[in-house]
Amino acid sequence: MASLAGRRMIVVGGSTGIGRAIADAWSAAGADVTVCSRNRPADAPHLRWERIDLTEPDQARERLTGLAAGRVDAACFSAVHYGDRRAHFSDGSEAEWRRQLAVNVTGLWLTLHALLPPLRAAGPGLFLGVSSEVAFNAGPGRSGYAASKAAAKVLLDSVAQEEDAVRVVQVLPAGMVDTPGIRRRRAPAFDYSAYARPSSFGPVATRLALTAGNGHHGDSLVVDGNGDWASANDRRPASQSVVRG
Ligand SMILES: NC(=O)c1ccc[n+]([C@@H]2O[C@H](COP(=O)([O-])OP(=O)(O)OC[C@H]3O[C@@H](n4cnc5c(N)ncnc54)[C@H](OP(=O)(O)O)[C@@H]3O)[C@@H](O)[C@H]2O)c1
Repeated sequence: MASLAGRRMIVVGGSTGIGRAIADAWSAAGADVTVCSRNRPADAPHLRWERIDLTEPDQARERLTGLAAGRVDAACFSAVHYGDRRAHFSDGSEAEWRRQLAVNVTGLWLTLHALLPPLRAAGPGLFLGVSSEVAFNAGPGRSGYAASKAAAKVLLDSVAQEEDAVRVVQVLPAGMVDTPGIRRRRAPAFDYSAYARPSSFGPVATRLALTAGNGHHGDSLVVDGNGDWASANDRRPASQSVVRG
């Protein structure tokens, strides 16, 4: 089996959910993986951990810059602040809006700014962004989240068009994924049987790491629950803004 042994990877927002699944998959393939998050990833002796709170930009900048001093072959940004509940724009708060921008957009900016130099030196390194269908469809009932994810997508699309030495690829779920961040916003009895598992991102993340994103630079890949994927250019992801069940 192809191996990521000897590669050093960083996953910002890798303590839970999709980021954790990507960190686990890269580690299982042999990479040395550091997760950046506020909380230490549970049951993860195979992962390094750096405490970073993206709402504290001075601290986040300093820690990301410290990580960038070493070799970095691939980085993933999966951190997210969803908001505490779905609500129409008029019922949302300015505090939630600012937090969504701080984590989902400025957090991504800080991560790119710190990690692009070592990724260029890896020649080519991979920057993997975890995107969302709301960046394609808008998000009634979650306009702040949708606006922040659209900003993140266009930031990464723009950087992709500038970069030769770093391959920038985005991945997004075809539907909903059962993660702690989603569970915090659902009723206790909610039925998750139609939701994908975070581990569905393992095969695409490993493939992209092994090839440094070759053939997918600047693309957004829509990932199915069974781990298959297709370019969003060929298959626009469906809106998930109406919660069923
Ligand atoms: N789940 C879905 O159905 C779905 C659908 C479409 C797109 N996505 C996208 O998938 C990505 C991951 O979502 P998820 O559902 O897997 O979320 P999740 O389980 O809530 O994980 C979010 C990650 O972000 C980190 N994080 C949150 N606030 C942070 C902060 N202030 N500073 C540093 N790290 C912070 C969390 O770590 P700590 O709490 O330890 O800090 C955690 O590692 C997001 O980009 C999301 O937009 C998910």
